[in-house]
Amino acid sequence: MPAAARPILKWAGGKRQLLPVLRPYYPRAFDRFFEPFLGSGAVFLDLHAAGRVDGHGVHLSDVNADVIGCYRVVRDSVEEVIAALQRLEEGHRAGGAAHFYGIRDRRFNPLRREVHAAPHPADRYTPDLAAMLIYLNRTGYNGLFRLNSRGEFNVPAGRHGSIRICNAQNLRRLSEALARPGVTLRVERFEEALSGASAGDFVYLDPPYAPVSPTAYFTSYTAAPFGSSEQSALQRTVLALARRGVSVLLSNSVAPDIQALYADSDEVRGAGFTVTTVEARRAINSRASARGAVHEYLITNIQRC
Ligand SMILES: C[S@@+](CC[C@H](N)C(=O)[O-])C[C@H]1O[C@@H](n2cnc3c(N)ncnc32)[C@H](O)[C@@H]1O
Repeated sequence: MPAAARPILKWAGGKRQLLPVLRPYYPRAFDRFFEPFLGSGAVFLDLHAAGRVDGHGVHLSDVNADVIGCYRVVRDSVEEVIAALQRLEEGHRAGGAAHFYGIRDRRFNPLRREVHAAPHPADRYTPDLAAMLIYLNRTGYNGLFRLNSRGEFNVPAGRHGSIRICNAQNLRRLSEALARPGVTLRVERFEEALSGASAGDFVYLDPPYAPVSPTAYFTSYTAAPFGSSEQSALQRTVLALARRGVSVLLSNSVAPDIQALYADSDEVRGAGFTVTTVEARRAINSRASARGAVHEYLITNIQRC
């Protein structure tokens, strides 16, 4: 069995808490695995820990070039990332929030701007930049990845006491998981990432949440929004995948838009999908009162084990 790695990033909508309700829907047998809204990669890492992706093609992608760039550097240069992260951890222990803001504003944002000024920023990520992303994510407010209108990472320092910043063993395990033959890591929109999925493949989809009400908070992961036209495009992609014989598991918020697209759609039911509501804990929210149990849709054409 491969050594289990935990997610290294705290990601809004991270699916670790939902794994027990997702697992019964992992197909008994599948060919390749696709996770095109990767974020912290909780489902990929869960399948990997169980040995379920051994010998299978694995296509991991996200539209966020920082996330993919960071994972590629962890895969290829993990010892350099660990060394840089240990230095950041020491700085944080000594300097706290002042250290956080110094790194964010004087090192991370200027270096990130250079990397994003050229095409293919994920290819240009460095161990220093990856370590700073992990550091800012672990010590920043609620683990958010948020950019302002100038494209600068602007999340404030969090308020946790002695959070573990560098878990070297876990980083090495993640590096091994990502370096396995057949695993690809790409910066892609979901449509592109799924264009090659075919009969027998398994796709897990975890798009950004649709707002549960017009005034609900919105968490931006990138400068590109994921609004109702993207949710509609995703529904069309889900139906097309099912027609091609792909096993699809999709989680989404119990929001009016999502209910209309899936739960109330004859076309979706006719394509063999079931829509169930499960309880999840949403750890990341800017309002403490909105944390805690929430309901989430599981939309799938897979028979529950
Ligand atoms: C809810 S998060 C996924 C969380 C992940 N399942 C986890 O456990 O951490 C949604 C992800 O979708 C990505 N994303 C947003 N729009 C996208 C698009 N059009 N195509 C692909 N990925 C997109 C975001 O960058 C974000 O990482």
